[in-house]
Amino acid sequence: MYSTAVYIHWPYCLKKCPYCDFNSHVKEQINHNDWRLAYDREIEHYANILGNRLVTSVFFGGGTPSLMEPETVQYILEKIHACWSIANDCEITLEANPTSIEIQKFKEFYDVGVNRVSVGVQSLRDDQLRFLGREHSVSEALNALKIANDIFDRVSFDLIYARPDQNDG
Ligand SMILES: C[S@@+](CC[C@H](N)C(=O)[O-])C[C@H]1O[C@@H](n2cnc3c(N)ncnc32)[C@H](O)[C@@H]1O
Ligand code: SF4
Repeated sequence: MYSTAVYIHWPYCLKKCPYCDFNSHVKEQINHNDWRLAYDREIEHYANILGNRLVTSVFFGGGTPSLMEPETVQYILEKIHACWSIANDCEITLEANPTSIEIQKFKEFYDVGVNRVSVGVQSLRDDQLRFLGREHSVSEALNALKIANDIFDRVSFDLIYARPDQNDG
């Protein structure tokens, strides 16, 4: 059986960072139920094309998937499970922004099957986080990493380097 990785995109953020080229948008109202149905149809569409596969990785990227309802993540993982076989050691990652609202949801994401988070730290300097238009501080980022490490076995974080005029860390 062929191995497959599944990428799920959540295209919404609390705020659009000025440097970001990704498919990410700010929207007041999001119909989470409509999104669940859309993911359902899309996964089914690809299952019909691909046939049975061994899923070795699922990646929830964005946008900001830590703003998803954990029930939606659970729904998607159950749908993937219904359509394909899932490897015992399947890595299930969710990208997270380190704001306090999202940190509180880490345990809920773990409980529905996420086993790795990728935290968007970007910089360990508060002036640079402000320059990048981020919604978090250095202390919030470090707190997010600590909480993530307490919950998940696998944690990664992003940093942005080679910023304009950068000549140190
Ligand atoms: C698309 S974001 C999604 C995660 C989350 N929304 C965040 O910003 O932390 C994934 C990562 O892409 C990086 N990124 C964003 N804009 C980029 C760009 N224009 N070029 C390269 N990397 C970028 C950031 O480091 C970010 O953590
Ligand atoms: S939070 Fe992440 S995905 Fe959203 S605009 Fe900023 S870098 Fe892009």
